[in-house]
Amino acid sequence: MCGIVGYVGSRGSVDVLIGGLKRLEYRGYDSAGVAVIDADGHLDTRKHAGKLAVLTDDLSATPLADGVTGIGHTRWATHGGPTDENAHPHLGDGGKLALIHNGIIENFGELKEELLASGHEFSSQTDSEVAALLVGDAYRETGDLTTAMLQVVNRLEGAFTLLAVHSDQPDVVVGARRNSPLVIGLGEGENFLGSDVAAFVAYTKQAMEIGQDQLVTIRPDSVEVIGFDGAPVEAKTFEVDWDASAADKGGWSSFMAKEISEEPEAVAKTIIGRVEDGLVRIPELEGLDADTLRDIDRVVVIACGTAAYAGMVGKYAIEQWARVPVDVELAHEFRYREPVLTERTLVVSISQSGETMDTLMAVKYAREQGARTLSICNTQGATIPRESDAVVYTHAGPEVAVASTKAFVAQITAMYLFGIQLGQVRGTLDDSRARGLVRELQAVPDKLASVLASGERIREMAKWMADTQSVLFLGRHVGYPVALEGALKLKELAYIHAEGFAAGELKHGPIALIEPGQIVFVIVPSPRDPNSLHAKVVSNIQEIRARGARVIAIAEQGDAAVLPHADEVIRIPLASPFFEPLLAVVPLHIFGMELAAAKGLDVDQPRNLAKSVTVE
Ligand code: F6R
Repeated sequence: MCGIVGYVGSRGSVDVLIGGLKRLEYRGYDSAGVAVIDADGHLDTRKHAGKLAVLTDDLSATPLADGVTGIGHTRWATHGGPTDENAHPHLGDGGKLALIHNGIIENFGELKEELLASGHEFSSQTDSEVAALLVGDAYRETGDLTTAMLQVVNRLEGAFTLLAVHSDQPDVVVGARRNSPLVIGLGEGENFLGSDVAAFVAYTKQAMEIGQDQLVTIRPDSVEVIGFDGAPVEAKTFEVDWDASAADKGGWSSFMAKEISEEPEAVAKTIIGRVEDGLVRIPELEGLDADTLRDIDRVVVIACGTAAYAGMVGKYAIEQWARVPVDVELAHEFRYREPVLTERTLVVSISQSGETMDTLMAVKYAREQGARTLSICNTQGATIPRESDAVVYTHAGPEVAVASTKAFVAQITAMYLFGIQLGQVRGTLDDSRARGLVRELQAVPDKLASVLASGERIREMAKWMADTQSVLFLGRHVGYPVALEGALKLKELAYIHAEGFAAGELKHGPIALIEPGQIVFVIVPSPRDPNSLHAKVVSNIQEIRARGARVIAIAEQGDAAVLPHADEVIRIPLASPFFEPLLAVVPLHIFGMELAAAKGLDVDQPRNLAKSVTVE
């Protein structure tokens, strides 16, 4: 939530900042702004409500006097609506200091009272302006931006990343973070700060992590990190493992279209390097040795939204393969109900961004209670992996569209790899069964590529459904979380009523929603599996069809039993039950995108949302 970029070096900072903001815009798009210190040492800012394009159009019409130091911000509004005044940067020290903020300053009310009492006036309704005025005042007293920032962060409560520049120190940007993301980009004679590496990967792939409650001062030739106690900190460096081009649209109509096309690759890359002699060996699991994995008596998956649905799919597989109980919890509910956790509980968090505040807080809570923690994450250098005992990175590459797609299939893949390894270690999967599962997983990318070929037909279907007001999704077993995912995509992208149900639940209430013309997608399990719920799901289809529903079945090739009962059938390749969700979800991702496009909506940046939810 909110994208942040900072730069010192010798390039024109406006271009660097705007380039960074373009790559970070998925984090928030209510307003955008930049502050630049020009060649004469003057600080100038420009900010506007609306998407980044409003700011860039204005900068093209009336350019800022450029300089080589600056900060930029793209906002997802929390305190104060999306107006020009509430856009960042905010000013302090009589306009000589500019500050940007991501997060929520919880004690801003009392700090604001204090500032008002000492004669300050506010020009916005944000909590962030409090920090700008406080750092400005502290600068007047200390004459040093790092010292001023250090004084102020120790007074703030809540979550924040702050970046500040001051015209008296034209070659310095100071950043600070608590429970909010910030990474450092290391260049030659230039340095960068960003909410994530996308902000600077066009210029450097060398990056440095900045930890919790730490403060960084960048100059063209130096980077200094200290703790909020003022003590120097040895920060860890890493190399970004993707190119800037991976975060470009590359000729696609939207990032979402591009990212759906990358779903096969996301699965394939997540498997690479984790299979040895046909069995799973995830090197990164070393933080949790075999004894620990053998000893755990329960797995609790915590995640939000789409990531939680990936967790639900994983639950079915891990329980089956490793014979250990698995609970899936929405991260935001988890710590508020005092869950029972022991040192034998493994808490697995799933997060694409690695920054979701609800998930981060749940991980910290789990650790405090003595549980072991594993992070499944797509973003290098993110906070949640750093707070966990071990991390299994999904290698889906940068996901820019706000609605998650390729990360979902990569998360399921990582859960499956983990489940197989757990089964191997615990002796519940013999080698031949484990090898069979690995082979099935390795076959998924090619199968996914063939599912993508049905895109055109789904687009046509979406066109005739453009005026639809409600769509239901039904699934059973691993098809149930897929139904939830299909419904979520439609809500967030096409802004229409959509619900996912476990097909078995239908007769316990939801069937009352069925009336003539109601569109229902049904994920049909394979009829080839002896334990299959195929017959039961086909009965469900008949029940809703009898009440006038228009049924779109997602069924495997050759399943003739669905044909008489469905209005449309979207075919997926043959796969055993656990691998069906990876295939069945792709048509639903395409459908959500195409229905939104048919309604003329922005599929990459749906209203009211942000990619990375870094506030609770
Ligand atoms: C839906 C979507 C969200 C995220 C959720 C968790 O398309 O993208 O529901 O899945 O906000 O985000 P991460 O995975 O970054 O923790």
